[in-house]
Amino acid sequence: MFSSAFLLCPSTYTILILRLLLPLFIIIPHHHHLQVTSAPAVLPPKHNNVTDRSSLLYFKSKVSLDPHGIFATWNDTLPFCRWSAVVCGRRHPDRVVSLNLTSLDLVGTIPPHLANLTFLRRIDLSSNHFHGPIPQDLSGMSRLQYLDLSSNSLSGVIPSKINHCLGLQIIDMSYNMLGGNIPTELGSLPSLYFLDLRNNSIIGQIPLSLANVSSLNYLLLTDNRLSGGIPPSLGKLSVLKVLHLGGNILEGSIPPYLWNLSSLEYLSLSNNQLQGSLPQDLECGMTYKVSTHGDVYSYGILLMELFTRKRPTDGAFKEGLTLRTFVKDGLSEGLISTMDECLLANGVQANDHYQTTNHAKTFECVSLVLRIGIQCTNDLPMERMEIKKVRNELNDIKNKFFGRE
Ligand SMILES: *[C@@H]1O[C@H](CO)[C@@H](O)[C@H](O)[C@H]1NC(C)=O
Ligand SMILES: *[C@@H]1O[C@H](CO)[C@@H](O)[C@H](O)[C@H]1NC(C)=O
Ligand SMILES: *[C@@H]1O[C@H](CO)[C@@H](O)[C@H](O)[C@H]1NC(C)=O
Ligand SMILES: *[C@@H]1O[C@H](CO)[C@@H](O)[C@H](O)[C@H]1NC(C)=O
Ligand SMILES: *[C@@H]1O[C@H](CO)[C@@H](O)[C@H](O)[C@H]1NC(C)=O
Ligand SMILES: *[C@@H]1O[C@H](CO)[C@@H](O)[C@H](O)[C@H]1NC(C)=O
Ligand SMILES: *[C@@H]1O[C@H](CO)[C@@H](O)[C@H](O)[C@H]1NC(C)=O
Repeated sequence: MFSSAFLLCPSTYTILILRLLLPLFIIIPHHHHLQVTSAPAVLPPKHNNVTDRSSLLYFKSKVSLDPHGIFATWNDTLPFCRWSAVVCGRRHPDRVVSLNLTSLDLVGTIPPHLANLTFLRRIDLSSNHFHGPIPQDLSGMSRLQYLDLSSNSLSGVIPSKINHCLGLQIIDMSYNMLGGNIPTELGSLPSLYFLDLRNNSIIGQIPLSLANVSSLNYLLLTDNRLSGGIPPSLGKLSVLKVLHLGGNILEGSIPPYLWNLSSLEYLSLSNNQLQGSLPQDLECGMTYKVSTHGDVYSYGILLMELFTRKRPTDGAFKEGLTLRTFVKDGLSEGLISTMDECLLANGVQANDHYQTTNHAKTFECVSLVLRIGIQCTNDLPMERMEIKKVRNELNDIKNKFFGRE
């Protein structure tokens, strides 16, 4: 029985092990390359090239530190369409369509005047030090399709009027300090493809309205303070590929509907307070088709990522330290830090009674899984473990640590 298994090992691992038996892949395409479609041709009469220029200058005035001197070109000598980071349109050559200020170590706030850039389609302010709130009224930017404010220090709440930007396809506000709820209004964005709110302090429940966003491919809500249950209606998201809900305080059971999402390639629910029984037919996942050789590599990465909660793209891995090396070194040195400390801690506290044995068991269980991950990601494809063997070994681990049916 699954219920007795929960006493032996943290429920998070049970979920992981079971889910790992399904064919999952971790390929997250570069959303920056998303095809941008043409926007509605509504033209608020009071905005023109003069307001574009003054909005940009106002924006510049709110940047207090520009260490790379990106704003040096933003002066009267040059027309604003030739200022760095500013792109004007082809059909409207004197209107700003894109503002890309990513990774420039800028310090500042984002003024509401930004929304006066009414022809803006793409804005990327990611990886800077913008602080303070996100302007609450972005409705002026009715053509906006791409909004990336990730990796800043923005606080306050997600603007609920964001649904006035009907063409939004990409919203990335991850890695900030945003609080408040996920606005219900997000559910009325008809073209939303990618929603990333990871690593903030967002509270409340996952709004039911999100289930109405039939275009949603990526829903990434990891590392917030979301509570309540996982809405069963998310099972309606027929094109959902990646669902990350880990690191919240979600409770209740995993809606069976989720396992029916045939498009789902990657699910992460670890580090929550989910409990109860998993659908019986989950085990049938083992019979799902996983065949090609190349998949083993992605699968191995996935195993290591899930059990370390680190990503191959984490900053720590930039200097030649790959996730694989990190795991390999960690295992050979017997370092517990390789593993997600929170997961281990949860496991240990799950039941005081079993404390010592539980800890050792968890450690052994995770080590075994990570070893499989390493064997799947050998540089030489010939040296990689056969997917059939992977499945068998995971199954053995599951039986050993979580008991048989
Ligand atoms: C902004 O520029 C960076 C680097 O040049 C690029 O990777 C990114 O895709 C651009 N963002 C947008 C929205 O075009
Ligand atoms: C404006 O910027 C351009 C390009 O950086 C520079 O050559 C020019 O000297 C600047 N003009 C003034 C008045 O600062
Ligand atoms: C702004 O628009 C006006 C009127 O359409 C036009 O005469 C002017 O040349 C434009 N300015 C720039 C910098 O494109
Ligand atoms: C631009 O936006 C600000 C703040 O939203 C507003 O007060 C101002 O009137 C706008 N300016 C123009 C010229 O539209
Ligand atoms: C989903 O959309 C339908 C149809 O537009 C609407 O009636 C319903 O209230 C929406 N559900 C939520 C939870 O927003
Ligand atoms: C968010 O990210 C920061 C830095 O990347 C990290 O220190 C912090 O622990 C993360 N917060 C949560 C809740 O995961
Ligand atoms: C999942 O899909 C199968 C086949 O379409 C269906 O019989 C089953 O009722 C579905 N289960 C849930 C929980 O939606």
